[in-house]
Amino acid sequence: MADDNFLFDRKGLPEDLLFLIQQYPRDGWREPGALSAMGRFWLKRHNLFRELAVQLSGSIDRLREEDFEPRDFAAWFAPRLDYLLSDLEGHHHVEDAHYFPIFMAAEPRLRRGFDILDRDHHQIHDLLVHNADAGRQFVQALEKGGDALRFAAEAYGVQATRLVAGLMRHLEDEEDLIVPLLMDRYSGGETLM
Ligand SMILES: [Fe+2]
Ligand SMILES: [Fe+2]
Repeated sequence: MADDNFLFDRKGLPEDLLFLIQQYPRDGWREPGALSAMGRFWLKRHNLFRELAVQLSGSIDRLREEDFEPRDFAAWFAPRLDYLLSDLEGHHHVEDAHYFPIFMAAEPRLRRGFDILDRDHHQIHDLLVHNADAGRQFVQALEKGGDALRFAAEAYGVQATRLVAGLMRHLEDEEDLIVPLLMDRYSGGETLM
């Protein structure tokens, strides 16, 4: 049976989980004082993940179009890939183990949303594993050049594009659920720690 809530099939969270974002739409998030320090921190982390994933995915085109020394390119690429992979895993682990249970208890009507996001994390974990493998092979091929590099770059590009697509969907949906909840319940200086 098709599952509309599968990461790569959905266009957003189900309508019945969006009652808080209808009350706290994105336009208002930028107002001074609208978000707690935690909300701002959360969005900053997400934006960093977005930026890195897009940069890495786009680096294949830059490599094709610009004249890079393989060593210079590897020195730019490898630490960014490592950072994205390890920090994203860490971020998801903290969400699953710590924050999601607190949020579910705070608003049981959103429980299904957190189950969807938790399942996303497992799918994104698989994408990260594929990105790590393809990225490693791509870095190794930089020195070889020629067809080996072309194939490795293409293989990495496929994985990176898929990661960007899954990650963008996940981050946006997660923000739609969590940021309004933080604004509704934790704007008075309370912390969730
Ligand atoms: Fe997440
Ligand atoms: Fe997150």
